[in-house]
Amino acid sequence: MSNQNWTPSSWRSKIATQQPVYPDAEALQNALGRLAKLPPLVTSWEIESLKESIAEAAKGEAFLLQAGDCSESLEDCETDSIVRNLKVLMQMSFVLIFGSKKKVIRMGRIAGQYAKPRSNDTETRDGVTLPVYRGDIVNRSGFTESDRQPDPDLMLRGYERAALTLNFIRGLSAGGFADMHHPENWDLEFASNSLRAQQYHEMVDSITSSLQFMEALLGSSIRESRAVDIFTSHEGLHLSYEQAQTRRVPRREGWYNVGTHFPWIGYRTRDVQGAHAEYFRGISNPVGLKVGSKSDPDELLSLVKFINSKNEPGKVTLIHRFGAKEISQSLPPIIKAVSEAKLNVLWSSDPMHGNTYSTKSGIKTRSFDDIAEELEKAFTVHEAHDTTLGGVHLELTGDNVTECIGGVGQLAEPDLERAYKSAVDPRLNYDQAMELAFMIADHMKSSK
Ligand code: PEP
Ligand code: CO
Repeated sequence: MSNQNWTPSSWRSKIATQQPVYPDAEALQNALGRLAKLPPLVTSWEIESLKESIAEAAKGEAFLLQAGDCSESLEDCETDSIVRNLKVLMQMSFVLIFGSKKKVIRMGRIAGQYAKPRSNDTETRDGVTLPVYRGDIVNRSGFTESDRQPDPDLMLRGYERAALTLNFIRGLSAGGFADMHHPENWDLEFASNSLRAQQYHEMVDSITSSLQFMEALLGSSIRESRAVDIFTSHEGLHLSYEQAQTRRVPRREGWYNVGTHFPWIGYRTRDVQGAHAEYFRGISNPVGLKVGSKSDPDELLSLVKFINSKNEPGKVTLIHRFGAKEISQSLPPIIKAVSEAKLNVLWSSDPMHGNTYSTKSGIKTRSFDDIAEELEKAFTVHEAHDTTLGGVHLELTGDNVTECIGGVGQLAEPDLERAYKSAVDPRLNYDQAMELAFMIADHMKSSK
């Protein structure tokens, strides 16, 4: 696909918001030069096959489960946290498959979710003002001048951590761990929700016995049940970093971002005239676009057409994040505009980012009820407009953190201090994530 006047660096002639300012230009060039030579994390075959699956999801034949940390940290690149996040993704996907009888595309916000958009360039504490923390590939979260200085070597450290994470994910998902014959491998203890735990285990037993029945019937083992696909995604925010991962591959046209399967444009960088739109229009990866209450339908149409000028199926996923109070009035005009323009998109709901608020003591949180309400409304609004909600986009972890209130464990504001670990946005914990998966599955079951 030839995109006119596009190069991996053509975004540099546009206004690039949310970019770090590095103090040492030479050190930056060195790091980017080294980054561009490192081997790819993902391949064009995987990227193209994901795009096909997303096109299926847009037609209602599959469902996209995109979930993971708001912000990964280099320090948390640890065996346990990767395994737990993978387990929750696997378990949720089985709940969804069981409920919907559809293929589920598993996609982590993982192996590269290191750059964060921020509302302010600086942060002030006790009269001291420093540059804001922009994620672990840019600077450090500590509050000293040297912590907050953008360091180009962190991009290399991030890329290496992404590679380590992905290497482990690939090993686990290739067999053994992901084998449906042995669901105990990816079992996690339910902390408090015995009702759902029982429902989950009944479901797994039923899947395992169906598998055994099929194998007895066929007289051979179903090998595909031993491996699963897990795709990676992150916000394509830091454009120098993304440019360094943008390559040509043999025997294919076009350019691929080989640092992740699915990069997305965040809500704050959605300007069609801006550098992010320019970078994204030239890559062959399927991409996400966040859509929120300030997204104007006409501007969104221009952006989708600019990024997907050939209206290729599977290329664009619109991830809407309005908030429970706003979705019913703000989503319909967007759906109407996109449907009238006959644009091929997958609709996905992010019920997290429109529902964030701060408690009186200044802790960022979200209420499980608001999240569930936005998701319910997303299904209802799409049904009313004859479109399909074919995906969800969630911030969660397999750990029993206390970052969002409510849910089955009935977490309240005083609980937030107990196990609040996120450096940026509050995530659903394991119980809350499973509760939501059952809710989505019930919805898909009843809407068939
Ligand atoms: C995010 O996904 O972490 C994020 C910052 O979202 P948004 O761009 O929708 O605000
Ligand atoms: Co977030």
